[in-house]
Amino acid sequence: MRISVIGTGYLGATHAACMAELGFEVLGVDIDLAKIEALANGVLPFHEPGLPELLRKHVASGRLRFTTSFEEAGVWADVHFIGVGTPQRAGKHAADLTFVDAAVRSLAESITKDALIVGKSTVPVGTARRLRELIDRHADGARRIGLAWNPEFLREGFAVRDTLSPDRLVFGVDSTEDEELLRAVYADALAADTPLIVTDFETAELVKVAANAFLATKISFINAFSEITEMVGGDIRTLADAIGYDARIGRRFLNAGVGFGGGCLPKDIRALQARASELGLDRTMRFLSEVDLINLRRRDRVVHLAETMLGPLLGKKVAVLGVAFKPDSDDVRDSPALDIAVRLFNSGADVAVYDPEGNANAAKRFPRLGYVDSLEAAVTDADLVLLLTEWNEFRQLTPADMMPLTEGRKIIDGRNVLDPAEWEHAGWDFAALGKRFVPVSDLAEAFAE
Ligand SMILES: NC(=O)c1ccc[n+]([C@@H]2O[C@H](COP(=O)([O-])OP(=O)(O)OC[C@H]3O[C@@H](n4cnc5c(N)ncnc54)[C@H](O)[C@@H]3O)[C@@H](O)[C@H]2O)c1
Repeated sequence: MRISVIGTGYLGATHAACMAELGFEVLGVDIDLAKIEALANGVLPFHEPGLPELLRKHVASGRLRFTTSFEEAGVWADVHFIGVGTPQRAGKHAADLTFVDAAVRSLAESITKDALIVGKSTVPVGTARRLRELIDRHADGARRIGLAWNPEFLREGFAVRDTLSPDRLVFGVDSTEDEELLRAVYADALAADTPLIVTDFETAELVKVAANAFLATKISFINAFSEITEMVGGDIRTLADAIGYDARIGRRFLNAGVGFGGGCLPKDIRALQARASELGLDRTMRFLSEVDLINLRRRDRVVHLAETMLGPLLGKKVAVLGVAFKPDSDDVRDSPALDIAVRLFNSGADVAVYDPEGNANAAKRFPRLGYVDSLEAAVTDADLVLLLTEWNEFRQLTPADMMPLTEGRKIIDGRNVLDPAEWEHAGWDFAALGKRFVPVSDLAEAFAE
């Protein structure tokens, strides 16, 4: 079976390389010529652990090729995965489906044999049924072109592992023939007892957005409690641990901090609200608007803390550790860390940014921030250090590492990964999200009493 993957970004490039690893012949298709040229030369244009090795291996073996030609894909492949972007529409909450529509239409016009189109992009419910009609309008009627929706649950940073060993598979199908083809594509995962849900288009589309809405809600839930503990005292981490022991709740995704970002959660909860409104269900997903607002208020809180600790920010040197939306990724789409860095800059601070992988992408969006290529360069002479993405390199920071470099002795832990007592005992003003901020001078007085 020959497979094409349309759209070779974070999802598509990973899927293409992993399908080659599973033994298929694969053709990656994208409209971005520079990206296709890089991939064809075995160069991954983004950061994802383990993926460069797979890409090089299968480009070298000839099992994985790349093109900008839909005609080539349409003539050659039996199964076509759609992994193009579905970003937020400018000025709207709704998803922009122009890339999905364009890709499916180009494909339908190019397919010259019986084939299956498999949607992986995250789309509003109802999209697959609409695409079914689009395909029928533009395809050669003599061919059987199936359509399935197979949402993707990979996590950036773990994308290879998640693609090769998914925690579940969802097939939205309207024929057993298409289901059988998908079973053949995922034979290895199914042989390894990966749970499989075979369902209709609508459920498959909704599974993905429901999962992301739930995860976003869980993060904002603990962050809402942060607003209370910041006011009255209490330890947000202990609170999360204590409720997390309840198996019905679970501890994961209950880490208080600067909140969620990236190319999925923010736009997916907004698109879900927009879709519910289109369906006349304005109130149904309204709680997600609060989830979004709680998330965005975390960024305000960090800027407020910085001002509390430094006074007016004009001319203050601020070190920002991390701009990617999460560790082990260079993705800065809707990154809380980058947003905070820009706000500090706009308030007049001299911002030095260091992220192990995210600097280049951040610099494309906000070239005026001061990007440096080491933690040392960022924190040297900083009046305030902000830890905003929990890369391992930052989780291990100690006051002793920082003392020779920075006189400021002020730090904001935006991810709750440092030990407050360690920093406070070393004489630092230590602030964290979900923690009532007490300057170290006041703590010293409290200790003296
Ligand atoms: N990134 C993730 O972790 C992840 C996880 C699950 C689901 N998703 C979903 O997968 C989809 C893709 O996300 P991504 O992060 O890979 O986006 P991305 O922006 O990294 O990649 C999208 C790619 O599609 C290409 N493209 C756009 N229009 C095209 C067309 N007409 N023909 C061919 N290629 C075209 C773009 O050039 C780009 O390379 C989105 O719907 C997203 O919500 C992403």
